[in-house]
Amino acid sequence: VEIRNYSREYLDPIIRMCEGISFATSLSDPDRADRAMTAPGAVALVAVEDGELVGFSHSITDGALQAYLSMLLVSPDRQRRGIASALIEKTMERSGAIRLDLVSSEEAEPLYRTFSFRRLPGYRLHVGGDPGEVVD
Ligand SMILES: CC(C)(COP(=O)(O)OP(=O)(O)OC[C@H]1O[C@@H](n2cnc3c(N)ncnc32)[C@H](O)[C@@H]1OP(=O)(O)O)[C@@H](O)C(=O)NCCC(=O)NCCS
Repeated sequence: VEIRNYSREYLDPIIRMCEGISFATSLSDPDRADRAMTAPGAVALVAVEDGELVGFSHSITDGALQAYLSMLLVSPDRQRRGIASALIEKTMERSGAIRLDLVSSEEAEPLYRTFSFRRLPGYRLHVGGDPGEVVD
């Protein structure tokens, strides 16, 4: 498995991989998704095996202190082979930051616990949302 930088050619496979994943519905608009992937400070990585996309991650970093892991997904048939760990390791290396914050899915908790970590209560605030409203 090769970890590469994101480029637009990977966008369609990324969007296909995200179909049906609730936290990734925000990627369904391709131009918006591409803007996120290529934004200043974005560390967007893909995992490729035999020419096929098998995972991706998206993070934002200030390049000095703080990075935030916003998306991480590995194909269901390629999980438990170290792909997510490799994406996180490469993100840490590329980010230049000293910490990587994230909001975890329940499923991913055992993965994050394999790293050095501190558990903190997390919040996601919705821009333009009503107080107390719950959306992905
Ligand atoms: C969570 C996810 C990214 C993990 O990807 P992965 O490539 O399978 O993870 P890795 O193979 O790098 O896992 C490394 C270690 O983390 C732990 N781990 C990962 N997934 C696990 C699971 N489902 N159950 C228990 N432990 C798990 C294990 O210790 C694993 O090592 P091992 O396989 O040698 O036991 C993947 O399951 C996924 O895409 N899930 C759906 C989307 C999601 O929840 N994304 C995270 C959003 S915050």
